[in-house]
Amino acid sequence: MAAQTRSASGRTTAQQPSASLGSPSTDDQGVPVTAAAWDQWNAGAPPRFPHEHVVRFVREGFSTPVAPGTRALDLGCGTGADTRYLMECGFDVTAVDRSPAAIASTQELTAGLPGTLDVQTTPLAEFAFPSRAMSCVICVGLLDAVGRDEARRAVPRLVDSLRPGGRALLVLAAEGDSRVNASPELGLHGYTRREVEALVILEYGTGVWIDSCTTTIQSDARRQIDWLVTLVKR
Ligand SMILES: C[S@@+](CC[C@H](N)C(=O)[O-])C[C@H]1O[C@@H](n2cnc3c(N)ncnc32)[C@H](O)[C@@H]1O
Repeated sequence: MAAQTRSASGRTTAQQPSASLGSPSTDDQGVPVTAAAWDQWNAGAPPRFPHEHVVRFVREGFSTPVAPGTRALDLGCGTGADTRYLMECGFDVTAVDRSPAAIASTQELTAGLPGTLDVQTTPLAEFAFPSRAMSCVICVGLLDAVGRDEARRAVPRLVDSLRPGGRALLVLAAEGDSRVNASPELGLHGYTRREVEALVILEYGTGVWIDSCTTTIQSDARRQIDWLVTLVKR
């Protein structure tokens, strides 16, 4: 899948396409079948407002506007509402998603904003995390999309990408969340507390807070249950 970088001024540089990883449910080109479903999701009617937990995380953890050159990473950026919010807060943002529709929307949504945007159309497993570079990392709705094994491989790399004092917010669906069964084509995994702990609790040198948020919708016809994991790099 092609990767490219773009500054907010519109300069685009193509990078080498990365090879697709094999997985048990892949198409005949080795691409996970869920990838097409996510691309469709991103091309549909996706969120246009920043996630409320991202807004709170930034408000509580950073003094905005942040100093010029402060970097943030938006993993699984989707259509770019959180990326745009981070740029509005002054961050230079690297936005990563395997879905071309997501990246196209992120570019559109952030066009003309000051600051630097680096977009990469790449699967999480192939993203080259820069070491100790990021003051802020957000990862909303991605670790439940990729499942436990891939999440376990990604989290140490995510933590390594934080500078000392840097903060990360992981938002992932919990067991019992209505979204998990509602969209089987997306392959979402709802995490138990024990699974979340196994993902993050052993990150040496990192403060970890595990919280949760339950939102009932339409008198509990649906239930959104998120794990909110905050990591602070020491
Ligand atoms: C639930 S959406 C979240 C999007 C955005 N963070 C938000 O909160 O609106 C999950 C995103 O993860 C992306 N995604 C799924 N699997 C991925 C993978 N293996 N590597 C990179 N991105 C992936 C999807 O394309 C989708 O944009």
